[in-house]
Amino acid sequence: MAPTPLTSSPAAALNGRLRVPGDKSVSHRALMLATLAVGHTTIEGLLESEDVMATAGAMRALGAHVVRTDDGRWHVDGVGVGGLLEPETALDFGNAGTGVRLTLGLLASHPIVATAIGDASLSRRPMGRVLDPLRSMGATVLARSGDRLPLTMRGAETAVPITYELPVPSAQVKSAVLLAGLNAPGTTTVIEASPSRDHTERMLAGFGLPIKTETDASGRRQISFTGRAELEPMDLVVPGDPSSAAFAIVAGLIVPGSDVMVSDVLLNPTRTGLFDTLSEMGADIAIENERISGGERIGDVHVRASRLKGITVPPSRAPSMIDEYPVLAVAAAFAEGTTRMEGVGELRVKEADRLEAMATGLRANGIAVETGDTWMAVTGRTGLAGGATVPTHLDHRIAMSFLVMGLAADEPVTVDDTRMIATSFPGFTAMMESLGAAFTAGEAA
Ligand code: S3P
Repeated sequence: MAPTPLTSSPAAALNGRLRVPGDKSVSHRALMLATLAVGHTTIEGLLESEDVMATAGAMRALGAHVVRTDDGRWHVDGVGVGGLLEPETALDFGNAGTGVRLTLGLLASHPIVATAIGDASLSRRPMGRVLDPLRSMGATVLARSGDRLPLTMRGAETAVPITYELPVPSAQVKSAVLLAGLNAPGTTTVIEASPSRDHTERMLAGFGLPIKTETDASGRRQISFTGRAELEPMDLVVPGDPSSAAFAIVAGLIVPGSDVMVSDVLLNPTRTGLFDTLSEMGADIAIENERISGGERIGDVHVRASRLKGITVPPSRAPSMIDEYPVLAVAAAFAEGTTRMEGVGELRVKEADRLEAMATGLRANGIAVETGDTWMAVTGRTGLAGGATVPTHLDHRIAMSFLVMGLAADEPVTVDDTRMIATSFPGFTAMMESLGAAFTAGEAA
């Protein structure tokens, strides 16, 4: 399929209310844990994006019965912990880092052989961060150099439960070890220095696993449980994805005169760093109608266009907003002064090197940016912004961030490709158009 460039033009005020699709992290985990439960799980509000559909395909290939009914609900009949079947063909994860890394965790403690493949972006990303602990649990792996895809794993006959201190702040690594531990006899423990998204732990508890999380005064978390337990099926509701909501929220703040409400957004505190950061920048952002749904805090996020000012975003904030830095960099481009984002080296190993991709795209559109290995500083526009085409490097969040930039810029902004948006946010352009955004196919005339 050929790339599909799109141009975003300066917009009049954005106005309206929308509901973004289901949370991607929760959706992947819902399909996986339902696969390991014995019996019938239903999932409402599952994100029907390419990434999540790749995980649904993988779970089917591993023996689960996964169907969608006309009412939009998904139904999974699981095989039980220890019951995964050997897939007949390679598991294709497309662009999905979460899909492949968490599934490798599942495979590592099942005595089956499986091959994982992905697209060009996923095949460049490091898998060693999950393979290291999974090897120590007994899995054997043959991977391309640098522990990259494609790879073939033979899961352990009897997995070794481990205590693992995360060397990188990553919920994917934490989750891979926890999922592998489900079929290991004995206690699996994961220790993380600062809290990353905790959907795996919460959902495991929901599926009936006795799991313990202890947090000390410095925020260090220790998560442990005893494996070979049985998971009970449940009825799940997936809340709106805060990482998708972020695009409409930032657009509402930087396009003058806007008033935007995003309803039913997941407000788990391990995911709301962007909202705290925008508040510190002076954003008019309010959480309304806060409530609990399916064991998670959710609410409606209401923003009105605001005069933002540059701040320093500390490294401790990074895990709770790791996917939101690209769109924060766009907000920073319209703020007064410099916004410094520290401790964000992980951005270099996402779907693209997001530090580099944001710096290149912003500079091309007239914004001053400085970067180091683990930091970026963006100075709000001092001249005209916009007017250039941005390479997206197969990264959905780079594409959506620059489409948001075009709405508030002085000249249109073009992204070279929008195909990847469907990996996380199907319907993105239509939703933004419903608020008043104007996009045109191809390059600016
Ligand atoms: C995710 C964790 C994050 C995030 C990704 C989703 C998850 O990755 O960037 O989009 O669902 O666990 P890391 O855990 O590698 O930081």
